[in-house]
Amino acid sequence: MTHPPLAPRMAGGGRQLNSTLSLECALGHLASGDWYCCDPKTLKRSDMNLNAKIFVSGHRGMVGSAILRRLQAGAYTQVITRSHAELDLLDQRAVQGFLAVEKPDYVFIAAAKVGGIQANNEFRADFLHQNLLIETGLIHGAHLAGVQRLMFLGSSCIYPRDCPQPIKEEYLLTGPLEPTNEPYAIAKIAGLKLAEAYNRQYGRQYISVMPTNLYGPNDNYDLANSHVLPALIRKAHEAKQRGDAQCVVWGSGAPRREFLYVDDLADACVHLMAQAYDGPLLNIGTGDDVTIRELAETVMQVVGYEGRIVYDASKPDGTPRKLLDVSRLAAAGWRAGVTLREGIARAYADFLARQCAETT
Ligand SMILES: NC(=O)c1ccc[n+]([C@@H]2O[C@H](COP(=O)([O-])OP(=O)(O)OC[C@H]3O[C@@H](n4cnc5c(N)ncnc54)[C@H](OP(=O)(O)O)[C@@H]3O)[C@@H](O)[C@H]2O)c1
Repeated sequence: MTHPPLAPRMAGGGRQLNSTLSLECALGHLASGDWYCCDPKTLKRSDMNLNAKIFVSGHRGMVGSAILRRLQAGAYTQVITRSHAELDLLDQRAVQGFLAVEKPDYVFIAAAKVGGIQANNEFRADFLHQNLLIETGLIHGAHLAGVQRLMFLGSSCIYPRDCPQPIKEEYLLTGPLEPTNEPYAIAKIAGLKLAEAYNRQYGRQYISVMPTNLYGPNDNYDLANSHVLPALIRKAHEAKQRGDAQCVVWGSGAPRREFLYVDDLADACVHLMAQAYDGPLLNIGTGDDVTIRELAETVMQVVGYEGRIVYDASKPDGTPRKLLDVSRLAAAGWRAGVTLREGIARAYADFLARQCAETT
């Protein structure tokens, strides 16, 4: 029987929670068709064996493609996917039919209508309506098909705008949301509450995870609609190519933000599923943040841009700090492993590869 790598999370990019496996752990792993977590706090037999049928929705997106890579690296043999064209997740009947026929053992909900601040603010009805439909169809359809384990991916925008920092999971629903993406956040809150309700009413094990800002392969580099990190990569690259003396960064550079490499996120998701985590809502982040100024300097160094960075303080800064508390995640035996510099280097390599593919 094939086994996933002894340190499966290494496939997600070099994470080294336990750099040396204990003998007991290694023997346990070798003696079974399953694998074991090596953190003594969470030493628990996995019920996600290599032949389990796993459906990854949204597998062409940044998060879904990372989960797919992680499962493939872990030698899971039955991962099923459907593109948007093959299965429109807004079509409740089609989704229910698909799940009833396929009967997956596990479902990852990485599909969503996602966008930047401007799109979220402008297309408020679409963001609320489509995300409610996607998650309702998948969660209810999974339940009807007898799927016992499912993971719903949300986002840190579910937390009140003026939360104490770092943000603990229990701050959910304790204050007003950021108005610009309130419809998206409300849809995500509904999704996690729906998963929770199926657990309470039907004894399902549907878990919800809330990742921090993500970056990495398959990110969106469209300057009109991208997040800060991919936007900086693109700006630095173009400034370098043109030989610009300066590169303008929006805002004062003072706000603090947290960034997680998307393959690390995927690793955490697979870890939680494989360890049969069935606790409450869980944040996924690094537990560390940097100022936008520090981030910009790191991006410029990685890209090799040697001009001056100029901060345009007339542009809005947003909230001064946004950092997730990751104690619950640490207690579940996972910690991020890809450093910011290493992650940016990998993201830049992906950016260059995509540029090259587009021009050839
Ligand atoms: N990106 C981040 O920084 C970040 C941070 C925290 C949390 N998250 C969460 O992670 C999840 C995925 O985000 P992402 O960044 O991976 O987004 P993404 O790159 O836009 O991927 C979303 C995927 O969902 C698919 N999809 C959307 N509507 C669909 C429909 N009606 N039918 C079938 N497929 C549909 C998209 O396919 P098409 O492109 O073909 O429509 C795409 O493959 C979201 O829940 C998001 O909140 C993301």
